[in-house]
Amino acid sequence: MAIRNNHQKSRGLWNTRFGFILAASGSAVGLGNIWKFPYIVGQNGGGAFVLIYILCTIVVGLPIMLAEFTIGRKTSLNPVGAFQSLKPKSHWVKIGYMGVLAGFFILSFYAVVGGWTLAYVVKAFTHTMSNFSSPKEAGQFFGSFIANTWEVLFYHALFMAICVGIVLRGIHGGIEKACKVLMPTLVIILIFLMFRALTLPGAMEGIEFYLKPDFSKIGPQTILIALGQAFFSLSLGMGCMLTYGSYLPEQENLTSATVYVVIFDTIIALLVGMVIFPAVFAMGLEPTEGPSLVFSVLPAVFVGMPFGNLVSIVFFTLLAIAAITSGISLLEVVVAYFIDQRKWDRKKAVLVTSVTIFAFGVPSGLSFGVLSEAKLFDMNFFDHVDNIASNYLLPLGGMLTAIFVGWVWGTKSAEEEIEKHETKFHWGHVWGFLIRYISPVAVFLVFFAKFV
Ligand code: PFF
Repeated sequence: MAIRNNHQKSRGLWNTRFGFILAASGSAVGLGNIWKFPYIVGQNGGGAFVLIYILCTIVVGLPIMLAEFTIGRKTSLNPVGAFQSLKPKSHWVKIGYMGVLAGFFILSFYAVVGGWTLAYVVKAFTHTMSNFSSPKEAGQFFGSFIANTWEVLFYHALFMAICVGIVLRGIHGGIEKACKVLMPTLVIILIFLMFRALTLPGAMEGIEFYLKPDFSKIGPQTILIALGQAFFSLSLGMGCMLTYGSYLPEQENLTSATVYVVIFDTIIALLVGMVIFPAVFAMGLEPTEGPSLVFSVLPAVFVGMPFGNLVSIVFFTLLAIAAITSGISLLEVVVAYFIDQRKWDRKKAVLVTSVTIFAFGVPSGLSFGVLSEAKLFDMNFFDHVDNIASNYLLPLGGMLTAIFVGWVWGTKSAEEEIEKHETKFHWGHVWGFLIRYISPVAVFLVFFAKFV
């Protein structure tokens, strides 16, 4: 026990349960909720997609998150060390390596988009975007911004530097402290924006599109997209929640923490929809714009609104905060690997990994400018890295984690860990069923559907 405690202390621990929940929620709530979720809903028919998404979150996401927290707390290690210590000298350690690699890949392009959000905060502050006369103009502005090599690189580097500044300070002093300030700010901003959007004339049409399910729009492809989005949004499948769980002291209640984080992440995504769809419909625009919805449609929407520039500043600040609290969690997964497995100190681990991730992200940053013609199978570098990580590594990692906990390490051992310092885990049998049968099969079917 004393050895474990010393080991834990030297790696760092969350100071409070609330701090841990905020940090894990900070990881979950990110560009996935504010940038991806609305455009995916817009492209996939609105309300019906939202229902399928919620179902995927509860049936597949929630059990896997609990599994990741449990492995993390049991082992107090990074993903590679964790699988190694639960099943020494087996191939299962590869799930851990896949996770670290996924963290590396995702952060490399996530930081590019994070950089765009920082740039838009600056542009909103300096009133650069206050005279668009149409979404087309806003779209052209966005297009020429992301094609500008030096500007994109500058903000990309700035985003990485902010993440480095936080992760360097460690778990309690860096990540937990930052999230304790940033997450409540994010919630306040979101509520402010929702009131602004809902009081716009014509807002109700947007709410109807968003909340009224039309099941004729649902097909296998929709379920596939919903499941992928659930993984990305909940930060699952790459050991990120495992790593955050590894900084938990033993007495924490894992099941309730999981439920809080899942509910928080889902509510934030749903609220973001309550901001974006009323605004888009009130301004007579289409919600099917795709990835550029937030960057090229919203600035035009804001221009037409009373107090539009203020709303624009506030919205992009929200986006930047969400991106930062997720970016630090991605960096922490890679950093934790080098600290635990390679015995590097935190400073060396943070600096070496972040510079490497930044360098690998440069072609992603340039994918909409000088490298926009460099395409393979009709996708640029950015699209490929996103595709490999989000559509393959995360679901595959999630499926293997579920199989590992359900069948290899065993739900019995996992439940013992969950119950260690808690009262009885009443939902244990339901969770056991989901993690053994439903989660892996659901992910498998999604993969299968993709290749057929
Ligand atoms: N959950 C984050 C988002 O919704 O933007 C993205 C993410 C963070 C994915 C951390 C995976 C991860 F490990």
